[in-house]
Amino acid sequence: MKKTIIFLLTTLFVAFHINAQTSHLIDKDVSIFYPSHYDIKKNQPSFALLKEPKSIGSVPINWKMKPHFYSKAGKIVASLPFERGTNLYGTGENTGTLVRNGKKVTLWNTDTPSYTRDSGKRLYQSHPWVLGVNKDGTAFGIIADNTWKQDIDLSDSIRFISDGPAFRVVVILGNTPQEVVKELSNLVGRMEMPPLWAIGYQQCRWSYSPDTRIKSIVDTFRLKKLPCDVIWMDIDYMEKFKIFTFDKTNIPNPKEVNNYLHQKGFHSIWMIDPGVSATRGYSVYNEGRKGKNWVQTVDYKEYNGRVWPGACAFPDFTRPETRIWWSGLYKDFMATGVDGVWNDMNEPSVFDGPDKTMPENNWHRGGGDLQPDIHLRYHNVYGMLMAKATQEGILKSNPNKRPFVLTRAGYLGSNRYAASWTGDNAGTVEHMKLSIPMSLNLGLSGQPFNGPDLGGFNGNTSADLFGQWIAMDAFFPFMRGHACKGTNNKEPWAFGPEIENVSRTALNRRYRLLPYFYSLFHEAAETGLPIMRPVFFADPKDTTLRKEEQVFLLGNDILIIPKWAINPAIPKGIWRTVSIAGENSTIDKYQADVKIKGGVIIPLGKIIENTNQYSLDTLTLLVSLDENNKASGIVYEDAGDGFQYKKGEYLISKFEAKQTGSTLKVMISHSKGNLKRPDRKYKVCVVTDKTQIESDWSKGNIIYIKF
Ligand code: GLC
Repeated sequence: MKKTIIFLLTTLFVAFHINAQTSHLIDKDVSIFYPSHYDIKKNQPSFALLKEPKSIGSVPINWKMKPHFYSKAGKIVASLPFERGTNLYGTGENTGTLVRNGKKVTLWNTDTPSYTRDSGKRLYQSHPWVLGVNKDGTAFGIIADNTWKQDIDLSDSIRFISDGPAFRVVVILGNTPQEVVKELSNLVGRMEMPPLWAIGYQQCRWSYSPDTRIKSIVDTFRLKKLPCDVIWMDIDYMEKFKIFTFDKTNIPNPKEVNNYLHQKGFHSIWMIDPGVSATRGYSVYNEGRKGKNWVQTVDYKEYNGRVWPGACAFPDFTRPETRIWWSGLYKDFMATGVDGVWNDMNEPSVFDGPDKTMPENNWHRGGGDLQPDIHLRYHNVYGMLMAKATQEGILKSNPNKRPFVLTRAGYLGSNRYAASWTGDNAGTVEHMKLSIPMSLNLGLSGQPFNGPDLGGFNGNTSADLFGQWIAMDAFFPFMRGHACKGTNNKEPWAFGPEIENVSRTALNRRYRLLPYFYSLFHEAAETGLPIMRPVFFADPKDTTLRKEEQVFLLGNDILIIPKWAINPAIPKGIWRTVSIAGENSTIDKYQADVKIKGGVIIPLGKIIENTNQYSLDTLTLLVSLDENNKASGIVYEDAGDGFQYKKGEYLISKFEAKQTGSTLKVMISHSKGNLKRPDRKYKVCVVTDKTQIESDWSKGNIIYIKF
């Protein structure tokens, strides 16, 4: 008896060292480390890595960061030390502070209303990824390349503690955090250029239904001259929550609804959840059954669990046949004029399942190079596989349009298939403020196109909070207002004339900045750099910026300081407050202070109601000179949709400005891409420390302005 107890205690609490069996250099400054007992079948193909890494040599002897593998209490651990003064970031979607030192997160995609489950330790997405910035500004990144349920514990070292089998670890070293984030995107893939309309403002509510309500919402936007590009249809458009159906009473003619929306310059996004109502006679269920497309129970029977429609079956997205079947379902759906798809509840969320999901021992059959295995292995990539199949379906239906998918659940690398939002937050000041570090860390974890439910999803939102929130959210990559059923109306006009005006100004600012935003999306699609960036990106060596999470950078050149920010840390150098749409943020109660860096040129478009009206003729160039009286900037343009840009049908124009005496000369110094630049009208607006001076409109490639 005593012996058994001692044995048990030993296995439970003593850590067993596992040797790092092999390691390779797989790119300049990127190495991979394999523990002994590494079983390819239990880990590969990787879901995070785009392709299987190839050795290009041995890991240099002086390589700084090596994982130590061991097993403890039946779990496999990879541990990496870090130096004092290092700040940790990443770990994907998470609550809490921007800096992750001392935090513990669980990677187990979870439906978590108001981030309450497990004290917010696990959310809807899983990113086995940590970014570290050393005291001297050099950086590193760690990928724990496995999908199994696991914890990241950053209390003293960096530890990945997995419920699954031994896993390999990728270590990236870089001179700057930017270098590491770019390398991450080389490894896990980048988002594709989204359609331009997806960067506009988007309006959602659970639910705009029936069709008359949808129409009245879009009409109100136009009537009130509030810019908006997209309206979202939540679950109530369906017949008894059956996906790929439309409720006959509320939405009798979806095509007509979509036509109406298009005529008003709106795009439409409709929700599709993974749970398929297990109702005999319902075509999606019948087909799914016939094709043996469902996730199975431990004893290989069709698994059913309750979601909105009641008992549901769940597509087994690990099967290639199931993904093909699923993508085929979009054909008729998209033919009604649907523009984009919203994949929700895809953790998957199961109301009556253990831990609100499906049992960990449910069975996925895999196929292709994917091994059959239990849900514990595939849970964290269920949403990502769904988004992939959805993206394929939309593309098949509309081969000449850029697909837009929004997914709630995700995994490291899911930016290849979808944008994401941060799930069901609450209409509280705390959650508004939290959305900055959340979105920043998601961006640092390979998901640049993201944002929260503006205004807060759960609970009623006060007018003041909405005003503060929209004023700041206008500068997030993904900007969508959303609200839970039963809460107060949260459209920009719902809080009275003052907040309607605040909203209009905030939206006008975003829309005027679209040429800059679109150029940043292009940069993100090319390099993997996030759109919204932590301020320490401005100077990674400046340790005073490392913890700043009230303010953020939009690209490199714009700094956003929300009105509520108290004593924020601001990067050194010249940062000048600008007015973008006539506002004066220094005296405004709501509008965030927008500062542009010395030495940059920011392209501004016109105030428009939606991106159908987008044009770079006319273009305003906001010029903020540096200490040498110089400035430069770029603007990227293409057709705004379709794929011609991949064949060179785009244009990057570089502008350069120089002041000599009392004359400022601004010219287009370089161009890249095959698009021909029309003879456009430009205006220069010079931003000084005290004022903004505007030139007249002029044509040609050189503009002069006299002071
Ligand atoms: C989930 C989603 C939310 C949606 C609701 C109804 O809670 O996160 O955005 O409105 O389901 O579909």
